[in-house]
Amino acid sequence: MSQDRLIIFDTTLRDGEQSPGASMTKDEKVRIARALEKMRVDVIEAGFPIASVGDFEAVKAVADTIKESRVCGLARALEADIDRAGEALKEANAARIHTFIATSPVHMERKLRMSPDQVVEQAVWAVKRARKFTDDVEFSAEDAGRSELDFLCRIFEAVIDAGATTINVPDTVGYNLPSQFGDTMRHLLERIPNADKAIFSVHCHNDLGLAVANSLSAVMNGARQVECTINGLGERAGNAALEEIVMAVRTRQDKFPCDTTLDTTQIVNCSKLVSNITGFPVQPNKAIVGANAFAHESGIHQDGVLKHRETYEIMRAEDVGWTQNRMVLGKHSGRNAFRSRLEELGIDLGSEAELNAAFARFKDLADKKHEVFDDDLQALVTEKGIEAENERIRLVALRVVSETGEVPNADVTLSIDGQERSVSAEGSGPVDAAYRAIEALVESGADLKLYSVNNITSGTDSQGEVTVRLEKGGRLVNGQGADTDIVIASAKAYINGCNKLLAPAERAHPQVGDV
Ligand code: KIV
Ligand code: ZN
Repeated sequence: MSQDRLIIFDTTLRDGEQSPGASMTKDEKVRIARALEKMRVDVIEAGFPIASVGDFEAVKAVADTIKESRVCGLARALEADIDRAGEALKEANAARIHTFIATSPVHMERKLRMSPDQVVEQAVWAVKRARKFTDDVEFSAEDAGRSELDFLCRIFEAVIDAGATTINVPDTVGYNLPSQFGDTMRHLLERIPNADKAIFSVHCHNDLGLAVANSLSAVMNGARQVECTINGLGERAGNAALEEIVMAVRTRQDKFPCDTTLDTTQIVNCSKLVSNITGFPVQPNKAIVGANAFAHESGIHQDGVLKHRETYEIMRAEDVGWTQNRMVLGKHSGRNAFRSRLEELGIDLGSEAELNAAFARFKDLADKKHEVFDDDLQALVTEKGIEAENERIRLVALRVVSETGEVPNADVTLSIDGQERSVSAEGSGPVDAAYRAIEALVESGADLKLYSVNNITSGTDSQGEVTVRLEKGGRLVNGQGADTDIVIASAKAYINGCNKLLAPAERAHPQVGDV
């Protein structure tokens, strides 16, 4: 690999999913993986196959689908983990096994209860075992950010000799400072005799808000792979945000000795997809992907940008995929116009049947809403994913009465396993009444952990996009729904969540499993 190439290793589907509540189904993981592949991400870490049968199936589905990016599975330095990862990745076009063991004194003594010698021995054994399945093996020293440099040099030299091709240096608890982390990377590369036989990588958490700065400092000092997630999703305060790493390196080519090969115009699409699926909204002032990232409010700035864009803009919005949210289609638009706009937006619906179903949804929407925007089309695609779930419950009819001084009331008719049933319920507001009615019919017994509504476009005729997070017996699911009527969108989201809960327990959330 040339020294001027920076490898992007996306772990949205693994570390990102470790965000409290950010669970994804197998189909959702495959959809995100496809979007990452389209963006030309080099390596997609799809999950932790030993964590549950569902996690195994999800990694396998991604490995079976993705052709352009390398697909990676995580494994502790244990035989069962590595063999399970090898099995999940069997059909991948290009596979990587990522094995890890902790190396900091506190982790070795208190968590692993192993001596440093035992840790080195286990790491070497694990890398050799992983090499039986693939010649692309990554080794991570968990909590490297609080490990002793001498010990890191020793274990990394040993695992490179054993066949590790990527050496990852995680700041697992987000403790490091940029100059310190850069020094660590430089010293490792200078002191490890066989360092030139592997790519050195970083994986930074954001506990002090320094994940991106620490990653970039490591790159300045020789790292040639960055592990990151879309929107900075991840365990606790998250991981380094992919979009910020990629755009910092691209924008400051005067400073960085390397660049990625990513198609940055796909960034906003990926960000929206991950946000829709996980129910984690993107804050408006978030760099690159926040709604205000390219908005100029002050008169002085607006004037400057109109006269010469570079007065206040260091990047072009279109280079990261912000399109003018233009009115694309209306109720008289035909199927071909619909198809070609989807293509321009990089949306691949797969089959003709799916295109027809989406076109029917588009016509319904265009009847209610005169102007259909790009963001409405994105929501239609999310609805496609929703329908792909194994739906036992469907919304047949919903009527709510909300009147000043009266208790809101909802009449709901659902089809459950093909049988229609109706009920009325009261609530503190129309959504509450609708949810009580649905729950009376479905009896899911789930706890509502999150309810959020966002407008997809501006204006009072905008579709509302609702995300709910439901929890039952340790299982977490997200449900989504979109409609110009937010009570209907809310009902759709709740029903979508219930359908996911009713589906066979495909996978436990990684935080719920025992690994
Ligand atoms: O943060 C961490 O240390 C990890 C490892 C498994 C790479 O996620
Ligand atoms: Zn991590």
